[in-house]
Amino acid sequence: MTWTKIATADQVGEDEAIAVVLGDLKLALFNSAGGFHVTDNVCTHQYALLSEGYVEDGCVECPLHQGRFDLSTGAAMCAPATQPIRVYPVKVEGSDILVDA
Ligand code: FES
Repeated sequence: MTWTKIATADQVGEDEAIAVVLGDLKLALFNSAGGFHVTDNVCTHQYALLSEGYVEDGCVECPLHQGRFDLSTGAAMCAPATQPIRVYPVKVEGSDILVDA
């Protein structure tokens, strides 16, 4: 595994998200349901950034058509989203948030 620091914990509040660019990857970092989650930032339905979506109870609602994704598994929870988003391993060391992407 290759862990890369992408943020510090104080950068993303409860039920909030930020966009993170890591090399060629567009990622979204979420803080919800008691933990941090990293996913691809671009919705699998059409082009929208999930870091701009509504975050609640470990899920994100896409800002464009309100498809919902589980932030732990990436599973699409409701139409029009049908394809999962990719999720990445995350760990916290002190105040640093690291991802294996
Ligand atoms: Fe995300 Fe349509 S672009 S649900």
